[in-house]
Formats: sequence, C-alpha cells, structure tokens
Amino acid sequence: MKICLASNNENKLREIKHKLGETFEIVSLADIGHVGELPENQKTLEGNSLEKAEYIYKNYGIDCIADDTGLEVVALDGAPGVYSSRYAGPHKSSEDNMNLLLKNLQIKEDRRAQFRTIVTLIMNGKTKQFEGRVAGKISKTKSGQEGFGYDPIFIPKGYEQTFAEMSLDEKNKISHRSEAVEKLVKFLLKKAKE
Ligand code: IMP
Repeated sequence: MKICLASNNENKLREIKHKLGETFEIVSLADIGHVGELPENQKTLEGNSLEKAEYIYKNYGIDCIADDTGLEVVALDGAPGVYSSRYAGPHKSSEDNMNLLLKNLQIKEDRRAQFRTIVTLIMNGKTKQFEGRVAGKISKTKSGQEGFGYDPIFIPKGYEQTFAEMSLDEKNKISHRSEAVEKLVKFLLKKAKE
C-alpha cells in the first residue's frame, strides 16, 4: 500500500517509515513529482492539514498524509498558532519568530503554551485526523542548540530544560508530532490487518 507523506522533510519521512515498517510504502512529494509549496490558506491547524492532504489527493490521486503544527500561547489567545512559521513575516525566520514572541510576552505573567499537531490521512477517499499536544511554557531567554523552530524557548511541563536542550530521542518521547504520528500509525497498522 503506497501513501504519500505531503512533505520533503527528511526527519518526518524517516520517523514515519521507521514506525510503519514494511507494511506501507511511504513516498515523498519529490517522489510523486510535486515541486513547490503546498497551499496553506486556512485559519486553523485542522483546516491547513486537510487542505494540504486534499491538494495531493485531488491532483495526484494517491492516498496521503499531511500535517500542520502550531505553537499556541495562552496569554496571546492562541497565537502564533497556525501562523507559527511566519509569525514575524513571510521570510519564516525562527530567530525573528522567537524574538517577536519573547517581546510580546515581556509584560505577561502567564507563559503557558502548547504545541499542537494535526495529522490528516486521506485513504480510499475517506478522511481522518489525529491530534498530538505537548503542554509547557515559554522561557524568558533562548537556550539549547538542538531541534528547530521555537525549541530554544519551549520548556515542556515537568521539565527544566527547553526542547532545544534535549536530545532528539528525549524530545520524540513526549512531542506533539510523535503523539499524532503514533495515533496515525496505530490506525494504519490496524487497517492493514483488516
Ligand atoms: P509545520 O506545520 O511542521 O511546518 O510547523 C509550522 C511551524 O511551527 C514551524 O515552522 C515551526 O516554527 C513551528 N514548529 C513545529 N513543530 C515544532 C517543534 O517541534 N519545535 C519547534 N517549533 C516547531
């Protein structure tokens, strides 16, 4: 069974291939000949994740998986949320995004936040979504060199370190994306047995 993961991100591809084993053949956007960005015009993670999956399904006629992730900060009414990658502008700079977020939280006491991932699967014309979350707080300064995006300023609940101070293995045990992908994999492996 062949499924396209609507991404060219090597880490995402490796993670999902590793978890699914041999049962499914996971192909990338490059493998199906798609060049360029996928549409992301919706106002929610659910909407964007679905929009990307539907785009591939409609244009390439292949079962597919798409994901969308956002950092939701309580004191900012859920921002940057669906706009996480372009919070400080369309140039999508993680440094600028983190600096803007730290600035916008300067006078706020409440620093609670969560990462949330929505994975959409379209298989045999049916759509299903899977959610993963990790709760935590935004630190006052950046620390750590690992990871990407907002990792240097996100401290998961129950920990003292930021995601960027953890190894990838440690982060993967508790991350939003891992939780959503685990749910997807469980569903697919069950389907494969039916
Ligand atoms: P995407 O939907 O996976 O492309 O994620 C959108 C944006 O959310 C990224 O550009 C990052 O800024 C942020 N983001 C997503 N996942 C993570 C993470 O695990 N750590 C830090 N930032 C993340």
